[in-house]
Amino acid sequence: MKDTIAIFASARRNGNTGKFIDWIGNELDIDIIDLSEKNISPYDYEHNNLNDDFIPLINQLLGYEQIIFVTPIYWYSSSAQMKIFMDRIADLLYLEELKDKGRKLRDKTGYVVCTSTSDVANQSFLNIFKDTFEYLGMNYGGYVHANCANGYSPNEYREDVSKFVELVKCSDLSAGG
Ligand SMILES: Cc1cc2nc3c(=O)[nH]c(=O)nc-3n(C[C@H](O)[C@H](O)[C@H](O)COP(=O)(O)O)c2cc1C
Repeated sequence: MKDTIAIFASARRNGNTGKFIDWIGNELDIDIIDLSEKNISPYDYEHNNLNDDFIPLINQLLGYEQIIFVTPIYWYSSSAQMKIFMDRIADLLYLEELKDKGRKLRDKTGYVVCTSTSDVANQSFLNIFKDTFEYLGMNYGGYVHANCANGYSPNEYREDVSKFVELVKCSDLSAGG
């Protein structure tokens, strides 16, 4: 799918979340960007970090209509790497020379792929994404969650994954992808 990309952020590449997105990414035939391979530093009010990998990554993401945010649930929230990435989006809102990139995020669709050791993804976690997407003018497309309390067990999520994959594919088609 040429209009969809995933950004992945976990403390380990081949853990539960990594395996989950590899499966989904394979079904969708999309690229997965691992934020751990990027040098993206925390938000800086002085903007002394603009030469790190954040802007090139944003330029890459702007080439897609649908962005899948992939993270384990750590303490009812996202991974730290995902939080750092999301904080940096503020650069696009506050810096005059980057505002055009921020505006280009509008009307893109964001999804969430997550794992935890609970039955369901907690609502406060999902709201972080829903509310942030809304603030940025993005559409919230939906999510899929894998409960890994018994380890990573693909058979338990097969139905949820196939629904999610269809959802992403259908939205991609309606977006002209
Ligand atoms: C630092 C940390 C915090 C966690 N917090 C939660 C949590 O709040 N709720 C939950 O259900 N599971 C929690 N877990 C379990 C992970 O979400 C779960 O094991 C997940 O599948 C790990 O994915 P990973 O292999 O990509 O790291 C936590 C795990 C860690 C390491």
